[in-house]
Amino acid sequence: MQDGRKADDLSKKGQIRAQYLTEFSPREYHSTFYSVLDDEVKFFLEVYHNAFEKDNLLTSRGSNQRRVLDFGCGPVPVYAGTAAYFANSVTMAEIAPSNRQAINSWMNSEEGALDWNLFFSHIASLDGGTKTGEDYAQRLRDVFQLVVPCDGELENPLHPICQTYDVVMSTLCLEFATISLDDYRAMLANVTHLIKPGGVLMMAGALGNTSYCVGQTKYPSVNLTKEAIADVVTSVETLELVALRTLGRQTSLDEKPADHNGIFFVMAQKMGTE
Ligand SMILES: C[S@@+](CC[C@H](N)C(=O)[O-])C[C@H]1O[C@@H](n2cnc3c(N)ncnc32)[C@H](O)[C@@H]1O
Repeated sequence: MQDGRKADDLSKKGQIRAQYLTEFSPREYHSTFYSVLDDEVKFFLEVYHNAFEKDNLLTSRGSNQRRVLDFGCGPVPVYAGTAAYFANSVTMAEIAPSNRQAINSWMNSEEGALDWNLFFSHIASLDGGTKTGEDYAQRLRDVFQLVVPCDGELENPLHPICQTYDVVMSTLCLEFATISLDDYRAMLANVTHLIKPGGVLMMAGALGNTSYCVGQTKYPSVNLTKEAIADVVTSVETLELVALRTLGRQTSLDEKPADHNGIFFVMAQKMGTE
């Protein structure tokens, strides 16, 4: 890469990081993207729930192999919520202090915490009514450890914490934390360092997206295709692609100020045994 372009990219990356660190509003993000349960969020909740409840790669794991990390959780506890009855510990990681504060506020059931009841009720409905949304929320609070700072650009994204997990899940994060496929690939390699050998990676996210807005702030993203995801996952030496599903866009631009044309779910296993 030419020096000028490299410098431009670095300063752009710095600006994106600064936007997340100082401008990102959990409340505006919630009211813009999570005020209703749309079919895209339903897809994400269902693929994660099915994986945790039915996929042999996960259900065959012993009780000491069920430590879950939600990487780049934002202010959103509901994807980790799908792991609540699978996991015996859930850690969350998020770069923005405002989002970590929103997660802690919800975990502590503080007055004024963001309301995610709709989403927990949907997770419970996937169980055929044997549990309630409140059961799922409470179970997540019970197994939740803490929300730690992270940065996917670091070789150890949880630095200074050195810890690996049996399952790493990440939703709508890596493509919004990077602006090129090379950066996306490098970030995925970093995040893979957080998975134990034999452990599982699950990511869900947006296809064809270049930007989204929260309030007046516009956040860029790298434009992913199904083929690019398959290529990037298989290019990380230690990962073996297990499943890749996509769905066309289910929401209008009025409903979601983002220009994605679809969404995806990918599952991969880290090679080796503990
Ligand atoms: C579109 S939000 C997704 C939030 C949430 N996971 C969800 O599904 O709605 C993108 C997330 O990526 C995080 N992020 C941005 N840059 C990052 C970086 N360098 N490392 C880790 N996470 C980052 C942001 O703080 C934000 O929480």
